[in-house]
Amino acid sequence: MEKITIRPWTEQDIDIVTEMEARCFSDPWNKEAMTASYLAPFTHCFLLEAGGQVCGYCILSVLFEDAEVLNIAVDLPHRKQGYGNALMNAMHEKAIALGAEKCFLEVRESNLSAITLYKKYGYEQYGVRKRYYEDGEDALAMKKTL
Ligand SMILES: CC(C)(COP(=O)(O)OP(=O)(O)OC[C@H]1O[C@@H](n2cnc3c(N)ncnc32)[C@H](O)[C@@H]1OP(=O)(O)O)[C@@H](O)C(=O)NCCC(=O)NCCS
Repeated sequence: MEKITIRPWTEQDIDIVTEMEARCFSDPWNKEAMTASYLAPFTHCFLLEAGGQVCGYCILSVLFEDAEVLNIAVDLPHRKQGYGNALMNAMHEKAIALGAEKCFLEVRESNLSAITLYKKYGYEQYGVRKRYYEDGEDALAMKKTL
C-alpha cells in the first residue's frame, strides 16, 4: 500500500469530492449537499490521499454520544487496497476522541461491499428503513458500540 494521508477537507476539496461522489453513487449528493456537510458544525469530513492523488473521502457526524457515518467512498481505480479500512479507522478514532459511544449508519440492502466492510468493523443491523432511497430500495440501519 502506498503511503497514505488522511486529512480534513478544505473548501477547495469540495469540487473534487463532488466529482468523485458522482462516479461512486447512483444517487450522488450534489455540490450544495457536500458544502452543507462541510459547513455543518457537527460534521467531520476527511480526505484520503495516496501518492499525491485524492482516492477517497468520508463524512462523520458526532452529536454528543451518537456518531453517524454519513458518507464513505473510495474512487473505483483505488478500491480493494485498504483505503476503506483507513477511512473507517479515522472516523472511529475521531468519534471516540469526541466522546461518542455508538456509531450508526444506513446502507443500501444491495450494497454488499459496504455491508461487508461495516460488518468487519462490528456493525450489526438493528432495523430496516423501507423505501429509504429515491429509487425505492430499502436501507439497512446498522450500529456499533465504539
Ligand atoms: C465500500 C468502499 C468504500 C470500500 O472501499 P475499499 O477501499 O475498496 O475497501 P478496502 O479495500 O479498505 O476493504 C475493506 C473491507 O471492505 C470489504 N470489501 C471491500 N470491497 C469489497 C467487495 N468488493 N466485496 C466484499 N467486501 C468488500 C471487505 O470486508 C474488506 O476487508 P478485507 O480487505 O479484509 O477483505 C468502496 O467499495 C466504495 O467506495 N463503494 C462505493 C461507495 C459506497 O457504496 N459507499 C458506502 C455507502 S453506504
